[in-house]
Amino acid sequence: MEIAAILNKPFGWRCSPNIAIVKYWGKLPGQLPASPSVSMTLDQSATETTVWFTDRKQVVEFEFDGNPAPLFAARIRSYLESVSGLLPWLLQVGVRISSRNNFPHSAGIASSASAFGALALCLADAHKHLGLVDGQQFYPLASRLARLGSGSASRSVFGGFALWGETPSVEGSSNLEAIALQPVHQVFSRMHDMIVVVSDQKKQVSSSAGHALMNRHPFAGSRYEQARQRASLMPDVLAKGDLETFSRVTIAEGLGLHALMLASDPPVNLLHPLSVEVIQLADQFRLQTRLPLAYTLDAGPNVHLLYPEEMKPEMDRFSREYLAPLSGTVKIINDFCGAGPQPLSVQNND
Ligand code: PMV
Repeated sequence: MEIAAILNKPFGWRCSPNIAIVKYWGKLPGQLPASPSVSMTLDQSATETTVWFTDRKQVVEFEFDGNPAPLFAARIRSYLESVSGLLPWLLQVGVRISSRNNFPHSAGIASSASAFGALALCLADAHKHLGLVDGQQFYPLASRLARLGSGSASRSVFGGFALWGETPSVEGSSNLEAIALQPVHQVFSRMHDMIVVVSDQKKQVSSSAGHALMNRHPFAGSRYEQARQRASLMPDVLAKGDLETFSRVTIAEGLGLHALMLASDPPVNLLHPLSVEVIQLADQFRLQTRLPLAYTLDAGPNVHLLYPEEMKPEMDRFSREYLAPLSGTVKIINDFCGAGPQPLSVQNND
């Protein structure tokens, strides 16, 4: 291994956030999940990150949107320390990172998955450049590195649908890294995510504090069992194009996550009155059209409406007619199931 091979050379990746279908909520020490989760990686929204390794040993510089961001640099320094067991050469170099999101901060899209996904891919890329990981192990390593930054980021290094967490019926599943779920029927590989942004306020409860609430939650045991059962259904649901089961599980998971938060000690209410309104409109639409529109929420108030390409004309009508009374109060971001991260063609500007 010759460290000089990576010095001052740009490693750049684009990575998208994901929306959880089966939620990860509750963790074990070592950034391990208390139960398995499944998500769909998005396409249009993305973080683009470029990393340069320097000879300024252990100096970490971070810029976001072209501006130095020393507060983030401190978090990244401890993240890099936490992954140095997997990448020992990191202790011999300095790291300069430049990152940007193509979605506005106020979009209400959780950016930690795409941010740690992109950074982990850059680190894994350098590891590969040093000849320390082969092509086959590249994405599993990137997923493992991403997980150590943010659990849900482990799933963002794969396109389509990913599963993170040991699931006996799914070969290769692991708590250490996510795996891509395949095959995926075309109704799911062309799935849309219409994000109804009802509030762009910063989260009142960090996800670490949220996960910690599960440590003493009265329903923790049954919740983890429920997540295990639902995750184990997903490979078959995705392969067969079973939209009915997909929408039933997706809705139950989004509402169930908020039910868990409301029932925790102290209770946490992250719903906005408009979240409830959008959910009710989606329920009315489902009842009136009999179409398998799915919706879900992560640990925030924004509602993700998931639907296959075939439902596009009906969903255009949904935004025109059903969401009309909310126009001016909500923002809509249209995204869809993505093919996964891409390397950036970056210029060496050193
Ligand atoms: O990865 P974290 O620690 O930010 O947790 C993510 C938690 C949820 O977004 C609510 C669910 C999930 O599986 O993504």
